Amino acid sequence: MTITEVLQFADRLVFTHRGKHLDDIQETVIKGVWQGKTYENIAEECNRSESRIRDVGYQLWKTFSESLGEDIYKSNFRSTIERLHIQEKSSISSIYRTNRSNCNFNFGSQTLYQYQKYPQDSQIEDTAKTTYQDLSIAPTINHTYFYGRTQELEILSDYILPQKTRLMSVLGLSGIGKTTLVKRFIDLNIQKFDVVIWRNLKLVKSLNYLMTDLLKKISIENENLLISDEQFTHFFELLSRQKCLIILDDVQNIFISGKFAGQYQTQHTEYQNLFQAIAQTEHQSCLILISQEKAQEMTALDRELYPIKSLELEGLDNSAGLEIIQEYKLQDREYWLNLNNMYLGNPLYLQYISTLIKDIFQDLVSQFIAEGNLIITEEMKLIFDTLYQRMSDVEKQIVLKISKCDENVSIEDLKISCSLSSIDIINGLQSLKRRYLLNQIKTNNTLFRLPSLFKEYIKNFQMPK
Ligand SMILES: Nc1ncnc2c1ncn2[C@@H]1O[C@H](COP(=O)(O)OP(=O)(O)OP(=O)(O)O)[C@@H](O)[C@H]1O
Ligand SMILES: [Mg+2]
Repeated sequence: MTITEVLQFADRLVFTHRGKHLDDIQETVIKGVWQGKTYENIAEECNRSESRIRDVGYQLWKTFSESLGEDIYKSNFRSTIERLHIQEKSSISSIYRTNRSNCNFNFGSQTLYQYQKYPQDSQIEDTAKTTYQDLSIAPTINHTYFYGRTQELEILSDYILPQKTRLMSVLGLSGIGKTTLVKRFIDLNIQKFDVVIWRNLKLVKSLNYLMTDLLKKISIENENLLISDEQFTHFFELLSRQKCLIILDDVQNIFISGKFAGQYQTQHTEYQNLFQAIAQTEHQSCLILISQEKAQEMTALDRELYPIKSLELEGLDNSAGLEIIQEYKLQDREYWLNLNNMYLGNPLYLQYISTLIKDIFQDLVSQFIAEGNLIITEEMKLIFDTLYQRMSDVEKQIVLKISKCDENVSIEDLKISCSLSSIDIINGLQSLKRRYLLNQIKTNNTLFRLPSLFKEYIKNFQMPK
């Protein structure tokens, strides 16, 4: 079997499954693995990080396994494909089962051409008929520029698919990659749901409007139902009858600004009932909440099969962070790790700072680092302004105190230096944690600090000069 045949076959599988052809890096991984190379060798040859190559490999084996209905790994990729090729040559009709549809594959170029020209093969159309998707306001993710997060994707898949979590929250600081991660999960798993709908609570806030909208989308026959308790009953019937995945992004928009984190605005308290009912009622669907602030219902419960889970995102790992810097073709590779750490592996901040280094420092990361300051770009300042404005007065007092200290602070330190009651201090700290703006250092005596970038922002823009 020639490498061209292998690539054609792989391309067809990926295209049928994901609607996209192989990109350069995927081709490199397939070629390398076919030739028995290690991920490390492949990474060296194409000047990419090993973890990036591993990620690409992981996604490819997953796609092939799902398409072919048998487990494919790096170690059995070549032997499996060769076996299938031999079967094909013996004119055994090869029918492989995808999750919800049957697809015919063969290695001939004729079939490849048909798939490229007519991606909506009649059997794929059948699947499309039974599946309703509304992802019109979800971002499009170019998976070539999606780095790391392998573990987080595995966690999400495990919670939502085998564990059948009914209420899933994805939480973390602005720009950390929540929306991107969830969309990537959907791109990889869409065929496992009957209905997928993405909504953003920045755009739609009223629960009545949202319910009417969702019901119309999920069930065409009941368009004229009035907003009522019956509508909720009907909604839950639909969640039982079909496997729906509903995503609500930017949920922090229904929480109060200027109070402790995660408290519902008076006109939106009904959302809390909906979220609780989704978790407590028996059905086969999942609601994913994406938020910068954690509310009570978003607290994961440890019990393994309990239907509420949360995933709190931290910065990208080093190699994924470096991939972002590489995209900007910056120089002085030896300083990239430093840059990634300074900007907390936050992909959005890394984009902003890489742009600044391009614009002002002629791509030279060393020159930027030599400045010696943690620079807050104008875009970052706007993000932190919004976060600061959303805080309660108690939290503002606490962050101002912590920012003045060079050392990590304890609750006792805060009691001495702030004119706040103990209970205010404790609630304020908890609220800051629920906004992902406070790091806890677990020593004998619990200590706290602010993320370095946020502390720099407070010092520069909120402290009286
Ligand atoms: N794993 C990743 N690889 C590469 N880029 C990423 C990754 N995750 C996020 N990004 C990029 O970082 C930026 C911010 O990501 P995203 O919008 O998902 O953050 P967010 O946590 O949803 O932020 P917000 O709370 O403000 O909505 C986007 O430009 C996105 O493309
Ligand atoms: Mg987002």
